[in-house]
Amino acid sequence: MSDRIKKALAISARAFFVTILLGSLVACSDQGTNLNNPMDVYQTYCFACHDTGAASAPVLSNRDFWQAVSNDRERLYRVTIKGFKAMPPKGTCFDCTDQQLTQVVDWIIDQP
Ligand code: HEC
Repeated sequence: MSDRIKKALAISARAFFVTILLGSLVACSDQGTNLNNPMDVYQTYCFACHDTGAASAPVLSNRDFWQAVSNDRERLYRVTIKGFKAMPPKGTCFDCTDQQLTQVVDWIIDQP
């Protein structure tokens, strides 16, 4: 192999590892979320849809809605854990345990 090709390979290998490193740093920044803190989980994972109404998600500030559905928390837990139509399973918090997710549902319902 010529020196020029060797050098080019070394550079692209380095670029590859830098990409992997940056990628894992971005992935790690997620771990700043305290999964035991429902508000933290909400703001990291649920916020995108439930604050904006994206994909016609019911919004957090619609207290009448959450009040009306709060009598069947089991259903809300199930929807959150398994997903339902445009609501993705685990609300995209794939590292959350079922218990952590039910805490987030309780937090949503208990908002003033
Ligand atoms: C990609 C957008 C999206 C994300 C992210 C998301 N949701 Fe949802 N969610 C929806 C949509 C859309 C619905 C309405 C589903 C339907 O009834 O058609 C929904 C419905 C729900 C419901 C049921 C409301 C009801 O009475 O039918 C609960 C509870 C809920 N989401 C909790 C959460 C929690 C907790 C998170 C974060 C861990 C989360 N969602 C993240 C889109 C999202």
